[in-house]
Amino acid sequence: MLSVMLSTCCSFIALHRATLDSAAIVTSPSWGQETPQVPLSPSIHSTNNTQPLTLIRYRQSGMPYFLREAMSQGNMLCRDVAEQQNKTRDTLPLPPLSPIQYSLQLECQKLFYQNSWGTGNVLQAFYGLRLAARVLGNIEVRIRCKDAEKTKSDLVLPWMAGAFVPRAVVETQSSPFLNETCLPFSHAPVHYLMDEIRYELRRMAIALVGIPYPTHPAADFVLVPEREQEMQLPMPETPLRPNIELDDVAIHFRCGDIIEVQPHYAYGYTRFSSVANYISSEARSIGIVTQPFQGQRQRRMDGTEHTRCPILIGAFQQFLQDRFPNATVLIRNSPDENVALSYARFIMANQSLASGISTFVYFPFMATFGTGYLQKPLYVEESFEERVNSRFIEHSDLMSSIDLFRLWNETNGREQILEWFTTDVTS
Ligand SMILES: *[C@@H]1O[C@H](CO)[C@@H](O)[C@H](O)[C@H]1NC(C)=O
Ligand SMILES: *[C@@H]1O[C@H](CO)[C@@H](O)[C@H](O)[C@H]1NC(C)=O
Ligand SMILES: *[C@@H]1O[C@H](CO)[C@@H](O)[C@H](O)[C@H]1NC(C)=O
Ligand SMILES: *[C@@H]1O[C@H](CO)[C@@H](O)[C@H](O)[C@H]1NC(C)=O
Ligand SMILES: *[C@@H]1O[C@H](CO)[C@@H](O)[C@H](O)[C@H]1NC(C)=O
Ligand SMILES: *[C@@H]1O[C@H](CO)[C@@H](O)[C@H](O)[C@H]1NC(C)=O
Repeated sequence: MLSVMLSTCCSFIALHRATLDSAAIVTSPSWGQETPQVPLSPSIHSTNNTQPLTLIRYRQSGMPYFLREAMSQGNMLCRDVAEQQNKTRDTLPLPPLSPIQYSLQLECQKLFYQNSWGTGNVLQAFYGLRLAARVLGNIEVRIRCKDAEKTKSDLVLPWMAGAFVPRAVVETQSSPFLNETCLPFSHAPVHYLMDEIRYELRRMAIALVGIPYPTHPAADFVLVPEREQEMQLPMPETPLRPNIELDDVAIHFRCGDIIEVQPHYAYGYTRFSSVANYISSEARSIGIVTQPFQGQRQRRMDGTEHTRCPILIGAFQQFLQDRFPNATVLIRNSPDENVALSYARFIMANQSLASGISTFVYFPFMATFGTGYLQKPLYVEESFEERVNSRFIEHSDLMSSIDLFRLWNETNGREQILEWFTTDVTS
């Protein structure tokens, strides 16, 4: 089964960079078969262009398989490199002696609409891949959206696509253990790539909406030539989405699929007040960022009927407006709101908050120019709080998506739900 799937989704091809005519892929390392248990120093595995290059390539058609495996079994790059070294998926790969090019050729629009993993999870899987390549050394990762030009105003993925040459982990950062980078996506410690994640996401936000005002921290963002060379999309001369009205406070409220169509076992909502308690009294505008309610290009899984979302979001808006009479509270869900713009809102806001736990906000909250208030993701170490622009907060007292879904159908269920959301809590 596995081999059948493999043959349809990806190809292992040995190429030659130079003039070698042997067709060998990679020879077994002679210096040890032990699973590396200590952080590796990638600098010792520097690329040698005279060695044969192994190409491991996935196309769009292989992505559903790729992501499913990455989510449940572990980092795909670790598995593929292990396999290329004739090891099983349970043994870790060794640093490859000759260079590997690990390439994903994506149709990003398709990936977004047809896959059941949200943007946050896909980013986690792809940054996890880049991290594993970094820790192993001697692997170039190429992530390419064939439709990047067409989708750059809508999607986040084109902005993290590029050709990432092997490079040493910066000395000042500690490096994660290989065994940990090879874990399934939700555990992979991608925060070790935070400098890059921050660079790419902030860059995307500026590319989309520009610098909001001259004293905004985005005005200090500096393009790094070495990084610019890697990225697939060049920085545009002028913002792609000019004249977007941004807010001091951006709050993500996940509506859509899990409220209207099918509950999500792992998702829970906070009461309105536990979000409001973090909002600065200085805030002049507060935006509730959510999916468009009707008729727009949405992910298929968000469904088309939206009756519950307007009720919940309307109540949230009213609650915030009562609490912050001097601020303008707006619902950011017009038809041309999309994931890229939502991310830009979180990244540009002075404060970014979420009304529940969602992988959607992990990356933009950690990359924001302001402060993100975030329940600590599984893979992030507590001590990392200082290195990201987030405050790790604890959401207790959540209403699960499943309870919400069930309650909605009961007599007076809707009233009970609104009652729960609008009850004040002190912290
Ligand atoms: C990875 O290896 C290190 C060093 O041996 C060990 O301390 C750590 O617990 C391991 N982590 C996992 C998830 O197995
Ligand atoms: C690259 O590999 C070749 C053949 O193994 C070796 O002769 C050469 O010294 C290496 N070059 C570098 C820069 O490591
Ligand atoms: C893996 O096995 C194949 C087929 O048996 C062989 O051709 C190849 O040289 C082996 N590769 C390594 C790295 O041992
Ligand atoms: C910006 O956020 C900080 C907290 O991170 C807060 O103290 C400050 O009042 C906020 N300013 C505005 C204009 O919202
Ligand atoms: C709103 O603004 C007025 C006038 O500037 C001020 O007196 C009042 O305290 C503010 N209200 C809140 C809730 O911040
Ligand atoms: C909710 O009620 C509707 C109509 O009464 C019913 O069709 C639907 O299956 C119920 N859903 C749940 C989750 O109980």
